[in-house]
Amino acid sequence: MMSSSSSVPGLGSSELTYRGHDAPAADAVADELAAGYSAGKPYQKPASLPRLARYVMGEQRLLFAFVGMAIATVAFLLLQAPHDHDSSSSRSSSSVAHLAAVGLASRHLSSSSSSFTPMAMGRVPLGLKRKGLRVVVTGGAGFVGSHLVDRLLARGDSVIVVDNLFTGRKENILHHTTNPNFEMIRHDVVEPILLEVDQIYHLACPASPVHYKHNPVKTIKTNVVGTLNMLGLAKRVGARFLLTSTSEVYGDPLQHPQTEAYWGNVNPIGVRSCYDEGKRTAETLTMDYHRGANLEVRIARIFNTYGPRMCIDDGRVVSNFVAQALRKEPLTVYGDGKQTRSFQYVSDLVEGLMKLMEGEHVGPFNLGNPGEFTMLELAKVVQDTIDPNARIEFRANTADDPHKRKPDISRAKELLGWEPKVSLQNGLPLMVQDFRNRIFGDHKANANAGDN
Ligand SMILES: NC(=O)c1ccc[n+]([C@@H]2O[C@H](COP(=O)([O-])OP(=O)(O)OC[C@H]3O[C@@H](n4cnc5c(N)ncnc54)[C@H](O)[C@@H]3O)[C@@H](O)[C@H]2O)c1
Repeated sequence: MMSSSSSVPGLGSSELTYRGHDAPAADAVADELAAGYSAGKPYQKPASLPRLARYVMGEQRLLFAFVGMAIATVAFLLLQAPHDHDSSSSRSSSSVAHLAAVGLASRHLSSSSSSFTPMAMGRVPLGLKRKGLRVVVTGGAGFVGSHLVDRLLARGDSVIVVDNLFTGRKENILHHTTNPNFEMIRHDVVEPILLEVDQIYHLACPASPVHYKHNPVKTIKTNVVGTLNMLGLAKRVGARFLLTSTSEVYGDPLQHPQTEAYWGNVNPIGVRSCYDEGKRTAETLTMDYHRGANLEVRIARIFNTYGPRMCIDDGRVVSNFVAQALRKEPLTVYGDGKQTRSFQYVSDLVEGLMKLMEGEHVGPFNLGNPGEFTMLELAKVVQDTIDPNARIEFRANTADDPHKRKPDISRAKELLGWEPKVSLQNGLPLMVQDFRNRIFGDHKANANAGDN
């Protein structure tokens, strides 16, 4: 017989007197501690195992316990369900809630992005309001991108523009700088970036021949590596991804008008290939992520688009003619001027891109105005709009310039319920006004160039 001499803080040594004969001393301490915490209640020995088992098995207690667990499991699974990214999940409330909770977009380079795993979507903490979608627009400081940004912000989304300002201009988005839903990150898409978003409109790429031929290797890198980076981002955060491809994927088409089923007639080694083949590869990557990684993607094949905020002197035929006519220079027509193009006003394109993003169809979809004009007919519309006396000057045609281009938009009409509304005669004056302001220096009017 021995008396415990161990001292437990808060307990008197008298309470630690060993009372049993068979149990080890440590058990005795535990028993005493249990007694000490059940203030004033007499100590009771735990029920023996068979008695406990009889209690559990009795009166169907075990069955009730199992039923309770099953109900809890079902409830848990139902609460988790909205976190799966099915085709309609980009607008899921939990996703929006998560974005609201995440706060401002964070930016990391590849090292951190590789270790990123999407966070579980949670409820909005009390006191935080639910917000619209968080959308990234790469190339959002450019011509088309800036008009898209206007529309997204107007409908209440939060927009992050990612642009290296190669051909884009801060002036195109300056009017949003005080909007708390707007953010611009100067960033080259050839480098990875990590942002918490619901949707990615991927526009970043020089679009006019003058710009994309300036540094062809950079152009194809932007199309391939830049698109890979944005697809990788979309996959990591579960965002829906829209690629702005181009009618150039049809090359110098042997089918007229071009349907989406046409595979094109493209020179893989020409001076335009950095753009044409770059966009074709971007489409391939987009579809491979869709098939292989189950990513939600959309592909738009954009035909010639014009409107306010186009780069002046970027070599695209509409901007060339308008700038030349305003400066009283001759309108330069390449070749015999009988090659045809279709011209889509920018607001029609933006409408089509948003319908495509919100719709259920992957595409590709031709987005363009099927109204077909020869270069000489376009020159005539420009003369009628700006200066009837503007002269036309013919020059030798450029390499790989397609002879005909006209979209077949039946698919977009049927599946997206979209078709262009603005005619060249109505759209051109809006662009002319913007060009007049920029060429002749009235910059104040320029900020609202997209409001029409
Ligand atoms: N405008 C058209 O007629 C037309 C036709 C077919 C396709 N597209 C496509 O639509 C998209 C937008 O064209 P746009 O007419 O607005 O051209 P744009 O040159 O005005 O805009 C492109 C934007 O992308 C940015 N950019 C370029 N390279 C980048 C890079 N590496 N990283 C980050 N930003 C970069 C530019 O700074 C610019 O703001 C392009 O992808 C283009 O291929 C346009």
